[in-house]
Amino acid sequence: MYLFELGRIKKLSLAELNNLFGEENLVEIIDHFAIYNLETLHKEPQDLQDKLGGTIKIAEIVDHFTSKTKDPKKKIESSLKTILTDHFKDRSGKIPFALTAVNVPDNPKVFLKQFLSFSKKTIKSLGFNSRFVNKPWQNATTAQISKSGSVQKGIDLTILGGKATLYIAKTLSIQNINSYSYRDYKKPFRDPKMGMLPPKLAQIMINLAEPALSGTGAAKEAHTIFDPFCGSGTILMEALLQRKDAIGSDIDEKAVEGTLANLCFVVKNFDNTTEEFAIFHKDAKQIQEKDLTGIPDAIVTETHLGPPVSKLPKEENLQKTFDALTELHEAWLTNLSPLLKPGTKLVICLPTFRKFRKEYIRFPHFDQIAKKANLEILNPEPLIYERPDQVVAREIVVLQVKG
Ligand SMILES: C[S@@+](CC[C@H](N)C(=O)[O-])C[C@H]1O[C@@H](n2cnc3c(N)ncnc32)[C@H](O)[C@@H]1O
Repeated sequence: MYLFELGRIKKLSLAELNNLFGEENLVEIIDHFAIYNLETLHKEPQDLQDKLGGTIKIAEIVDHFTSKTKDPKKKIESSLKTILTDHFKDRSGKIPFALTAVNVPDNPKVFLKQFLSFSKKTIKSLGFNSRFVNKPWQNATTAQISKSGSVQKGIDLTILGGKATLYIAKTLSIQNINSYSYRDYKKPFRDPKMGMLPPKLAQIMINLAEPALSGTGAAKEAHTIFDPFCGSGTILMEALLQRKDAIGSDIDEKAVEGTLANLCFVVKNFDNTTEEFAIFHKDAKQIQEKDLTGIPDAIVTETHLGPPVSKLPKEENLQKTFDALTELHEAWLTNLSPLLKPGTKLVICLPTFRKFRKEYIRFPHFDQIAKKANLEILNPEPLIYERPDQVVAREIVVLQVKG
């Protein structure tokens, strides 16, 4: 079993994991962690981690037992002793370590104090000096774990109390925060007025377009991604980083040039990307087969979301935005859909307007547009990516070309 720490928008993180691993393999969700019953991760943990936009860390469940056990804390102690002894068999130097406790059978502070001290003593008995990176007596943050190198040089353990089971998990990989900021802020072409997609959301969208990793596995992954509204190329940058070929187009020549510069930046500054990309200048409503260098395996795109607004627009203005976007979506989807193979997935963003805290005015009648374009909507519930300070949120829709 594997444990995935979910990102800020739990529903999106879960949708990404369910699509890759199958919802039937989801064992349980404990707070912001999800446990999946998987025989294998199908990839090296860090490779999988670098692909997942919605997962903060991946851990392997190394022990679990029923929470009805007579003395759970004694059981945790003996389990930790075995895990630590095994883990530090052939280590040297000063060891950083971290513990996270979620839904544990005690006051979390008391629990952490007990088990941080216990782990330190155990590591000492194995002949090593160690330091825990947790602030006394709080769960370690991702930044503390990353900065200390606990996953590589020491150990990061998570203890979780589930419905009927206590789990102990050892972290295998953690999100590389520096890499996200580097590619987001250092890329040569940035245009905040255009409304750039956060790289993690671009990754989630690409993963929602993947066929499941289970079954025959990685060989079936989408190989070529097409973004017909590429803007600054965020989605295509992430596609190259996932070793996929990228095709992009935009109605704006500045965006075409900017995307080209950003893709060259990725190829130059990151290892193991593909170098296969083709970007062209075109209205998405008029894409033809001859424009594409091959039939793409998936369409992942963020179209125009309407004019930028800082407060909820008046009803008539909102209607104007929806009308204009209805026309755009109907035109580009009905034009492109016949060029794609049946079963091809399309993952797109629609604007949704925040009315109150969690109440949204959603894009109207998108199901009718999908129907006209011979597309089926795959996600049963809305998947909304929002930021607390923004009125316009993005609704992610997963579509599939009907047979
Ligand atoms: C919200 S931006 C995309 C931003 C992009 N996801 C990124 O992260 O940089 C929408 C893009 O759609 C382009 N666009 C608008 N209407 C279009 C059309 N009819 N055909 C092609 N591109 C269009 C705009 O020029 C703009 O670059």
